[in-house]
Amino acid sequence: QTIRLDDYRPTDYAIETVRLDLKLDPKRTQVTSTLSLAARDGTRGGTPLTLDGDALTFVFAELDGKPLSPDDYVATPDAFTLKRPPEGLFELTIGTETNPEGNSALMGLFRSSGTYCTQCEPEGFRRITYFLDRPDVLSVYTTRLEGPKDQVPVLLSNGNPIEEGELADGHHYAVWHDPYPKPSYLFAAVAGNLAHISDTFVTASGRTVDLRIYVEPGKEDRCHWAMDSLKRSMRWDEVRFGREYDLDIFMIVAVSDFNMGAMENKGLNVFNDKYILADPTTATDTDYAGIESVIAHEYFHNWTGDRITCRDWFQLCLKEGLTVFRDQEFTSDERSRPVKRISDVRTLKAHQFPEDAGPLAHPVRPQSYREINNFYTATVYEKGAEIVRMLATRLGEDGFRAGMDLYFERHDGEAATIEDFLACFAEATDTDLDTMLLWYNQAGTPTVTATSSWDAGSSTFTLKLTQNTPSTPGQSEKAPMPIPIRFGLVGPNGDDMEVERIEGAEAAADVLLLSEHEQTVVFHGIGARPVPSLLRGFSAPVRLEADTDTADLLFLLAHDSDPFNRWNAAQTLAMDHLKRSTEAIRRGDTLAADPEFIKALETVATDTGLEPAYRALALQLPAESDVFREIATDVDPAAVSKARTTLKGEIGSALAGTMRDLYDTLQDDGPYHPDPESTGRRALSACALDYLVAGGTDGAEELAKTHFDTARNMTDRLAALSTLAMNRLPSAEPALEDYAKMFEGDALAMDKWLSMQAMIPQPDTLDRVRELMDHPAFSIANPNRVRALIGAFATGNATGFHRADGAGYHFIANIVIELDPKNPQVAARLLAAFRSWRSLEEGRRTLARQELERVAERADLSRDSSDIVSRMLG
Ligand code: ARG
Ligand code: ZN
Repeated sequence: QTIRLDDYRPTDYAIETVRLDLKLDPKRTQVTSTLSLAARDGTRGGTPLTLDGDALTFVFAELDGKPLSPDDYVATPDAFTLKRPPEGLFELTIGTETNPEGNSALMGLFRSSGTYCTQCEPEGFRRITYFLDRPDVLSVYTTRLEGPKDQVPVLLSNGNPIEEGELADGHHYAVWHDPYPKPSYLFAAVAGNLAHISDTFVTASGRTVDLRIYVEPGKEDRCHWAMDSLKRSMRWDEVRFGREYDLDIFMIVAVSDFNMGAMENKGLNVFNDKYILADPTTATDTDYAGIESVIAHEYFHNWTGDRITCRDWFQLCLKEGLTVFRDQEFTSDERSRPVKRISDVRTLKAHQFPEDAGPLAHPVRPQSYREINNFYTATVYEKGAEIVRMLATRLGEDGFRAGMDLYFERHDGEAATIEDFLACFAEATDTDLDTMLLWYNQAGTPTVTATSSWDAGSSTFTLKLTQNTPSTPGQSEKAPMPIPIRFGLVGPNGDDMEVERIEGAEAAADVLLLSEHEQTVVFHGIGARPVPSLLRGFSAPVRLEADTDTADLLFLLAHDSDPFNRWNAAQTLAMDHLKRSTEAIRRGDTLAADPEFIKALETVATDTGLEPAYRALALQLPAESDVFREIATDVDPAAVSKARTTLKGEIGSALAGTMRDLYDTLQDDGPYHPDPESTGRRALSACALDYLVAGGTDGAEELAKTHFDTARNMTDRLAALSTLAMNRLPSAEPALEDYAKMFEGDALAMDKWLSMQAMIPQPDTLDRVRELMDHPAFSIANPNRVRALIGAFATGNATGFHRADGAGYHFIANIVIELDPKNPQVAARLLAAFRSWRSLEEGRRTLARQELERVAERADLSRDSSDIVSRMLG
């Protein structure tokens, strides 16, 4: 069954309050829900009321305190219908039963290492009780939790605690009240034997908020970075967006079985423990940064998501795109803006661009769906954030803030739409933003071409721009979109040139707007031939094909004042080489790297005026998946892999001396701290070490082994291990064994060990992955373990997954089939690893198709997996 945006209409009934009573039991938790309901204006008297359910066991129903006769309702596992609701306000009480322990899908109420926990977004609440389970039904919740005190000493839900007490038989209870009306997907309950750390935060207006992070007893010491990140997030949202926290208490719970990263339930965020737990010996700099940004993301949802929610799930990007934008801005302000921008663009290109170019392409705001869980995608999140960023670019800091202020003021307490959101910016800044809606409605990555010429006689520089968005499933024709292009014209001395006047496009000082299919833009007062630096800061999520040649790119790499484009120049040069080298390899040839390019890299690597983190990014070659995407058709993954390994080796051996010096100067014996400076230093050191090893430098393997053995933090240890393993050196095996001994029993540290082995780029890695599935550190029931081992193999090991004999595809299809009945969401995600299968060369394409067809033919496939596989083959 397909749900369509155009079919939206409000519910006939509103649910004003919810009283939820949970009597916790591992297999038979009793849920009693009392809803106060009223027909909305315009609902005809007696219109039946149908509530959503999902696999529910019905127990009883009462209307206004009196038992209902079975003639008055129909209760099935998937729905409850009250045939003739009374007029006016009425109270419906329904009893259901659920089995948390048997809930392997991790949606609704489930258990994670003994802790009761919920996940309701998007449609999990209906697995707890019958409800109008959609985001535009906002209610005030009062939740009572009850259970045996020895097993569930801690009882938590949304809002503020209002009552607690002891009961007979060692039971106890707690009552929570959340005064803010919210949709059911933001409901949460947690119960278990949990420890916590606490702190306080004083808001801008002087209210003191109690902060708590709950975790398995014994892990409290690993929660302090998360708490620190939370306090910084709360302050930042006050300063940057004027948003204060609104309850007396803010709680976070870390659980080890969770499908996603985390969840923004009102006042009670639930986190995958991977995004909470950190200490220097078990977490890397990347983990610390990830924790900081996910904590920020979920906290920021309190305003963009909870106070203002979505009218329907088509508007998911309204909260997700905006909140990703906000967390990106937080990280940019807390750390380095250019470094953050570069890593976000890398993520966008690695995940969103391929999605947009393949069979799963969909608009940021889809027009229809069969399974909403399949739309928590890079397109909705990351491209959604890019659209918000384009608004900010076009409107400027003050204009953007004025639009946000109006949005918060006008829609607080509402379930809003993208149209509502855009209208706030249009009104606050008096700008026509109608065509911005195209960005939400059209799928596919636009290609922008730029050809330029300089005319000495008239001192003009002319830029011919075109845009083209490819057809995507269900959308063959695309209208031109408004594309903000931040630019500079770099003069012969390396500085940006003054522009007298711009003709042919709406333009501000350094941003021009491409709004037609084709536009010719003339810059006046340009007395020398400039090198255009276009799409600075990646000002729009497009593929840019500019006529800049190698000399221009080398010039930009040396001089561009925009750090993003400087980095991008290096990437473009590397990509050009990798594409040509891949072709050469397929012909049985080889292609040597351009010494000028290697020299330019060296200049950046050793420029101490640049941040180490930035220099590390500049030295990083495009990933194999980036090269796939650029080649686009008839891709031979083995040739791409060889091209990349070869280039890395050439750079490593050409710059051996430089890398050794870099490595030596970057070592530091001080105490570990995850601050941006030391993080950058460790990243650059790891990069230098990796080039030394890749270049086959004498003594490099020993150096890496020593780095591993003497490491005093996980970042250094893992970097050295990765270098040894990815370069397939003999010392990798004993180092992997040492690592396993060191971290035995530490699930998150062992996940890194599983991932690393899954990513070793050689065909027989598949056998290793199969063996590791029997290792005690692995469990198919835990999503983190599945992602660490199986997910890393499917998406992080092109050589293994794309084995020429199809064994990688066969293996992943088998896992999907095995996992699907237990946890459909995780199975469907894994299946999406095939999303670029149509771009493969013919042999692999045929093998991949066979596996997809084999999955598609399974009877009883979940809606999640069947939706993905049918779109993939469609
Ligand atoms: N709203 C959460 C976040 O972005 C993600 C929850 C997604 N859950 C799901 N079952 N698809 O922070
Ligand atoms: Zn989110």
